[in-house]
Amino acid sequence: MKNSLAVAIEALSWMAYEGVGERTALFRASGQLGATHDELRQAHRIIMETTRFRNRIEHLTSALVPDSLEHIPHGVQSFLMILVYLSQIDQLEARKLQRVVSLGRQILGWRELHPYEEAIGRILTKQNSIRPQDETERVALETCHPMWFARRVMSVFGRGLGLQILKRNLTNVPLYVRVNPLKSSSHLDQQKFRDAVEVVGIQGVWRLGHLKTLSQQQSAVAAGEVVIQDLSAIVADLVACPVAGNTVLDVCSAPGNKTSHCAALMGNEGRILSVDLSSERMLQWNREMTRTGCLIAEAVMADARRLELNVEADVVIVDPPCSNSGVFAKNPSMKWRITPSRLNSLAIRQFTILQSSARYVRRGSNLIYCTCSILPEENEDVLIDFLRRNPDFHMTRQQPFLGSPGLKGLDLCQRFYTHLHDCNGYFIAKLHRD
Ligand SMILES: C[S@@+](CC[C@H](N)C(=O)[O-])C[C@H]1O[C@@H](n2cnc3c(N)ncnc32)[C@H](O)[C@@H]1O
Repeated sequence: MKNSLAVAIEALSWMAYEGVGERTALFRASGQLGATHDELRQAHRIIMETTRFRNRIEHLTSALVPDSLEHIPHGVQSFLMILVYLSQIDQLEARKLQRVVSLGRQILGWRELHPYEEAIGRILTKQNSIRPQDETERVALETCHPMWFARRVMSVFGRGLGLQILKRNLTNVPLYVRVNPLKSSSHLDQQKFRDAVEVVGIQGVWRLGHLKTLSQQQSAVAAGEVVIQDLSAIVADLVACPVAGNTVLDVCSAPGNKTSHCAALMGNEGRILSVDLSSERMLQWNREMTRTGCLIAEAVMADARRLELNVEADVVIVDPPCSNSGVFAKNPSMKWRITPSRLNSLAIRQFTILQSSARYVRRGSNLIYCTCSILPEENEDVLIDFLRRNPDFHMTRQQPFLGSPGLKGLDLCQRFYTHLHDCNGYFIAKLHRD
């Protein structure tokens, strides 16, 4: 437990001061301190939950700790956040909490923690409740989201559905894997994946439990025999439906989940052009192509807002950067990074990328637009604007259709919600060019 706590304290400090996500922070902290697999798993859980409940923890901490959090040294701040989570939210039993405090003293030093001993006593002994100033703050604190986001979700979906969407982000999302026929037979090795359940209606796609179960099957993942990909994103590739011999343009393609799935659907016959702006993510894309046995993809490092390609594609997939509002249950740090002004600039970028990619759709062929966001600004609004300016495109039926219909009259679009579909929140549109 001591090393898990040390790694979690270090990682939370990286997240707070460098703005990195959970995985990067965990990777850096464990690189510095070293950790066994079990210690990493424990640290990961502490980081995820402390980040998921961040605003409620800060609110409760402000009533228990006299100094404002930002005036407290980084390590101590992270430790107090963890302690508030374990005591006030997870309600860990007193004996275990005492043990955590004693480990905290060993990790950070008695002297460093000394000024906060009184506050630690209060954290351990007083059960505090939230004291919101108004109804929106209450929802934001109870469901642990930024206030503007809670307000936005309730205004788009209505209070009842909005609350269900927000509350679902308080717990994890299952993992999904697809069997990769380029590296293995199309059956899942059930010796390795004993707890996996095949998704009804989609052959070769399996629902696992959480990270814990995956660790037992890492060799199959490392060998590319199975690929971890969320159900919603898998459905988007099936909707795109590339076949052997097609030319596919995969715009915003790194780290390459869609490229490798398309190659599998095409039996490695045809051509995939994979465009991305980020050289770092394209390195990941390269590794992913090797791991998954994709032989037909070419990397194009380019800004998709200003594409200059000489290609007519049978399938164009546009998966632009988004707010990740559908992934808050899986990656809670993302909900604290997005702001209304960032959302506006993302919507502009998404429209520009869609518009610039659409030129490459061969007449009579299809374009898939998808995001892992549930907000209409990044989805229906972008498409309504696009369809108004591009009368040669129209929305078309999707197969498979496992989600819910789109909003604003765009019923042919497919939406996924974590509380309804048990996967990431997601949006898929399929457009046909006349
Ligand atoms: C949602 S991710 C794509 C995930 C990918 N399609 C997959 O299935 O693995 C969005 C990607 O867009 C890339 N990106 C952002 N702005 C871009 C731009 N202007 N041109 C090209 N790529 C861009 C990012 O580097 C990121 O890799």
